[in-house]
Amino acid sequence: MCGIIGYTGHRPAVPLVVEGLRRLEYRGYDSSGVCFAQNNELRVVRAEGKLRLLEDKLAVMEHSLATTAMGHTRWATHGAPTEDNAHPHRSSKGDLCLVHNGIIENYQECKSSLIAKGFRFSSETDTEVLVNCVADERAPGGSLLEAFARALRKAIGAYAVALISPEEPDTVYAARHSAPLLLGVGAGENFVASDIPAFLPYTRDVVFLKDGEIVRITPSSWEVFSLEDLRPIAKQPRRIEWDLQSAQKGGFRHFMLKEIYEQPRAVTDCAAGRVDAALLDARVPELDALPFPGRLRIVACGTSFHAGLWAMPLIESWAGIPTAVEIASEFRYRDPLLTPDELVLVISQSGETADTLAALRIARHKGCRVLGLCNALGSSIAREADVVIYTQAGPEISVASTKAMSSQMIVLLLMALHWGKAGGALPGETLRQAVTGISTLPSLLESALPGIQAEARTFAARYSSCDGMFFLGRGQCYPLALEGALKVKELSYIHAEGYAAGEMKHGPIALIEPAFPSFFLAPHDELFPKTKSNLEEVQARRGPVIALTNPPRPGMELRADDIWILPEAWGPLEAFLLLPALQLFSYEAATYLGKDVDQPRNLAKSVTVE
Ligand code: AGP
Repeated sequence: MCGIIGYTGHRPAVPLVVEGLRRLEYRGYDSSGVCFAQNNELRVVRAEGKLRLLEDKLAVMEHSLATTAMGHTRWATHGAPTEDNAHPHRSSKGDLCLVHNGIIENYQECKSSLIAKGFRFSSETDTEVLVNCVADERAPGGSLLEAFARALRKAIGAYAVALISPEEPDTVYAARHSAPLLLGVGAGENFVASDIPAFLPYTRDVVFLKDGEIVRITPSSWEVFSLEDLRPIAKQPRRIEWDLQSAQKGGFRHFMLKEIYEQPRAVTDCAAGRVDAALLDARVPELDALPFPGRLRIVACGTSFHAGLWAMPLIESWAGIPTAVEIASEFRYRDPLLTPDELVLVISQSGETADTLAALRIARHKGCRVLGLCNALGSSIAREADVVIYTQAGPEISVASTKAMSSQMIVLLLMALHWGKAGGALPGETLRQAVTGISTLPSLLESALPGIQAEARTFAARYSSCDGMFFLGRGQCYPLALEGALKVKELSYIHAEGYAAGEMKHGPIALIEPAFPSFFLAPHDELFPKTKSNLEEVQARRGPVIALTNPPRPGMELRADDIWILPEAWGPLEAFLLLPALQLFSYEAATYLGKDVDQPRNLAKSVTVE
């Protein structure tokens, strides 16, 4: 996710803004830039890559008199991570400068209209369109605040933005909709930023902004208005007592927990530009660059492999595409038989996993087209795939992959819908149900997560002393069982095994005894009765059972040592409630046992070795 900081006050603004960007580096970025006002003109300096490259450019410039500036670190979504696409962006008329975090979905049609009016563009970004929209809205004698508000009302999508004009060199305007933005209130100075760490050394008085609020700051004042009608809104600063590190975690104890709670946002960002809730439609534009696949081979590692395994039945049933899923470290050494009409889909959060990259190269060598599903823009897999789809989940800092998996699953589900529509195999009702479900999923998750975490904490205290445990499920719950077991292993170091519940009777059931608990994923789906039978087989051998299921209803009763009730969701979307429960159980078990949650022993965030 991009980082924004804006400052106006009495200090040298440029070094303060660059220092603020450095404290936002944890958000991940691939280019950066600053804009500063000096001698009533605006200077913009940008650089590809890390902040030190920006600092090298600034070192040979005069900016000591600038006391108003804004800075940006860009996590590229529209357009490659080049200097031309870096922020701030300047309008081709009126010389306004803007930085932006988020996605403007209707930027293409706005851009066409602006070009027709004589505006010129030098980048591929939606941000440059937005700043020119503001310039276009300037009415003779009208205020910049009014023009800014009019432009934002026309924007569709998510944004946190900051704006400076040479006409008001000591003023910073800012606004937010579905992307974080805060006000820092100082003495003779004021700040706007994406996150508290950016200005924490200068003030602990923070005004939390809501969607639809627009702000204006000067060295001696800060004002908040309603975007809708510019009505002033009274806000009270809150005193923040966090230290810098906990501020970077947004007040969460660990990055993993922060990223689990970012999943509603990740789902929203993933669906942006791909789901139309009003028209009950969905598409993945990147797939238009590929022929309809005769067959699909999904290849990945670890959690990404589990995401692919989860999606396989959806792609087959909704799109009618025969799909196989393989572990990359096996695929790459067995000289796989691939047919030219087979599309190989490699899934990798980091885009740098050695085995998955090797699989990509083998597939290409064998004449197959390769589609990459990545979270890291410009990564090796993203560069070498024929086509790449980004999950737009924002950087995942914790070694344990959480929001990356749910965002991969959302994109894979949308791909199944896209191909299902294209191939004519998808029932209309399925499309409508899926789009409705995805559109409401973020708020459902948002409200459910705290309760799920409380239950996870209870079960972690009860079962973390066990030497081993099963995670069992059928159908879509089988890959989730594998993921639940992986999370417990990598975080709490307890041996846990994920297994197809129907396979228990073929041997593993020999492990069942009172000291060996089994977590059953038993949502009210069509396999519930079969899963219930497997659960009862375990109980008959005095094995403790924890059943993750939905609120009881006639014919769906369950008996278990522990019943973990999760909110119900439509069909495959049930997985997006089960997955955080598994993630939070492993998180709570690791904290209960005093393990290193964000950096578990022996593990790396990206396995770039064989
Ligand atoms: C997941 O919690 C692990 N950290 C690991 O299994 C990871 O999913 C795997 O190494 C694949 O990484 P990638 O998605 O970056 O390719």
